[in-house]
Amino acid sequence: MMQGMRIVGGTPLNGTVKISGAKNLALPALVATLLTDAKITFSNVPNLSDVNCILSLLESLGSKYENDTKGTITISTPTILSHIAPYDIVRKMRASILVLGPLLARNHAAKVSLPGGCAIGARGVEMHLEALKLMGVDIALNDGYIDASAKKGLFGANIKLPFPTVTGTENVLMAATLAKGKTRIQNAAKEPEISALIDLLTLMGAKIEGKGTSEIIVNGVDSLRGTCFEIMSDRIEAGTYAIAAAITKGKLFLEGARYCDLKIFLDTLQNSGLTVLENENGITIAGRDSIKPCSISTGPYPGFPTDLQAQYTSLMTVANGTSTITENIFENRFMHIPELLRLGANISIHGNTATVNGVKSLKGAQVMATDLRASVSLVLAGLAAQGTTIVNRLYHLDRGYEALETKLKLCGANIERFNI
Ligand code: EPZ
Repeated sequence: MMQGMRIVGGTPLNGTVKISGAKNLALPALVATLLTDAKITFSNVPNLSDVNCILSLLESLGSKYENDTKGTITISTPTILSHIAPYDIVRKMRASILVLGPLLARNHAAKVSLPGGCAIGARGVEMHLEALKLMGVDIALNDGYIDASAKKGLFGANIKLPFPTVTGTENVLMAATLAKGKTRIQNAAKEPEISALIDLLTLMGAKIEGKGTSEIIVNGVDSLRGTCFEIMSDRIEAGTYAIAAAITKGKLFLEGARYCDLKIFLDTLQNSGLTVLENENGITIAGRDSIKPCSISTGPYPGFPTDLQAQYTSLMTVANGTSTITENIFENRFMHIPELLRLGANISIHGNTATVNGVKSLKGAQVMATDLRASVSLVLAGLAAQGTTIVNRLYHLDRGYEALETKLKLCGANIERFNI
């Protein structure tokens, strides 16, 4: 059933938003359980369609799980019943590529559909494959599938990633935990979700050094054990609600958010004149009448997160002047811009840079969501626009935001989901 969101803008948001567990940690963490036959219990898991998708993929591979849908999931994979990750699952969610490393480590064979591109870019996986080949994996590409095998198991290797790919780092990291010998990963991604994944793998008995740096050393072990693990707060969700406070000139307390996970982003909000205060339980964001334009350029962590670029662009459409937004991670992550123009924004695009001339106010209209973060940037714009905004194709939104309209309504937003 197609659904839409109807937003009547103009109300400053005030109150507390409980930030959910991080989608981009929950996905690799659940996949990491393939590495052992023991039981692992997760808490603070977000209730998202992407989480349900990875659970059904893991179940098809042999995992058994209980999900109370209130954040607690207990999962184990006594044996690998299948090593095939089918196209119809992988094409819907690229993160499925993460099963490649753990399947090879545990089962020495894996057949994973090539993810194919998605709205925001080609999103190749060749860096994942080249790294696994160095670890003794034979890889063939047949009929759109990655046919991978390691008859003698995996061997430690020196791997230098051409780019700090997030899931590429995670795939190799998980594979290396059970490889024979030492693996050195250079130019590794340093996102907080990767440090948290290292915490999980270490609790499971993996031997890993270099957490939080771009050089990770893994000494392979024979097997891993079960554990309990809490999923960290979702920094991208937190950043999204920070923009909600700023764009509606309201004041929100983001419960569970941590400044250190979003430093450059929150520093930028402070430079644009917003109040940002952290305490031990979260972060308070207070908007103000006039927003100073601040230009940004996305980059790998600790740079400005690409996953907050669309949301930040929405804020700059009503800033008091001109700013530039440069997207360096994905080649097609400006699809929210034509939709923002429909709301009265004044933006021009040249290559990977958008120039945003702030306007006094946006005006509500019907707009189309194209990908996860673009969809939420349109909701944010609708919260500030005069009149009513309708956002279509909400399935994009439900991949990464738990109970979005409930959380916004609790802070005073006039927002309603409806069936089309
Ligand atoms: C992860 O995607 C996140 N997904 C993305 O979040 C996030 O935008 C991205 O990292 C960048 O931070 C998950 O963690 C599940 P990359 P990933 O490999 O790992 C190119 C969201 O909104 N590349 O770091 O797929 C790639 O095409 C999602 O929650 C290759 O060309 O991103 C991209 O242009 C969207 N070949 C760039 O590198 C490769 O082998 C960064 O990709 C690998 C990557």
